[in-house]
Amino acid sequence: MTDAWAVLGESNGKTYVVAVLDEPQKVKGLGVFNAAEVLREIDIGQHVVIGQKELQRLAPRVPELARGMVRRAQTIGCKDAGFFLARLGLGPGDTVLEAGIGSAGLSLYIARVLGDKGVHITVEPRQEHAEVGLENLERAKQCWPAFPTHHHLTGLIEDTVDDIEQLVKAVDAIVLDLPDHPPAIAATAGLLKPGARLACYCPVTSQLERAWEACETAGLTVEWAGELMEREWGRASKGGMRPVNGPFGHTAFLLVAQRL
Ligand SMILES: C[S@@+](CC[C@H](N)C(=O)[O-])C[C@H]1O[C@@H](n2cnc3c(N)ncnc32)[C@H](O)[C@@H]1O
Repeated sequence: MTDAWAVLGESNGKTYVVAVLDEPQKVKGLGVFNAAEVLREIDIGQHVVIGQKELQRLAPRVPELARGMVRRAQTIGCKDAGFFLARLGLGPGDTVLEAGIGSAGLSLYIARVLGDKGVHITVEPRQEHAEVGLENLERAKQCWPAFPTHHHLTGLIEDTVDDIEQLVKAVDAIVLDLPDHPPAIAATAGLLKPGARLACYCPVTSQLERAWEACETAGLTVEWAGELMEREWGRASKGGMRPVNGPFGHTAFLLVAQRL
């Protein structure tokens, strides 16, 4: 296969996203190798030994790209990302505004459903975060058959509304994962098409409360606010199924509001 990127998985779930370069490169955890040479005859599903490790070549779907992504800022995972996609009703051809891009954990899920007729606008004030997020999105673009038109703006979202309006007249959804939601909500609520929704990711309750108030002040109707609990089950050593041991953790409170 001659793709730009290859996804290689270990049996323990550890995943590597490797640039298929025809030159020796160092991949953390795998050592130095020429990926183009080693992977030339390796199709998706086939196994390959690199250094001491046996790896399986996998399709570059969101779970694999997310597991092997470059990371900096805290990312949104599939539990909350899936809820946003469903509650915002995102699909091919939609225009979505997202801030901040961070490591693009959420952006990967959004870009995957918009298709090549969609428009994805991301905003981020911190260059060092944007570099990581844009690298992850670029990998996805090179791996997937369809990818939305992507515009990235540098700055606080509340300061970039004029630039956003230069790109699009209105948006089908807004997602805000940033520390201070009210200025962002006040500045962007007017960009929503009638019936379109805005979602907030709020790690602590004070953020949720302020986001709720800001949505109402901006004329939006809060449709849902709360938290998703995820409880994984596994097979018990003596038979049967039970919740696995481990933390029953919190990610964030989520809020969805609609422009009616
Ligand atoms: C937790 S990270 C986002 C992570 C991202 N959702 C992901 O899944 O990878 C929050 C980001 O928001 C950015 N940010 C903070 N205030 C902002 C603002 N007013 N407008 C746009 N981005 C902002 C931060 O620099 C940071 O990169």
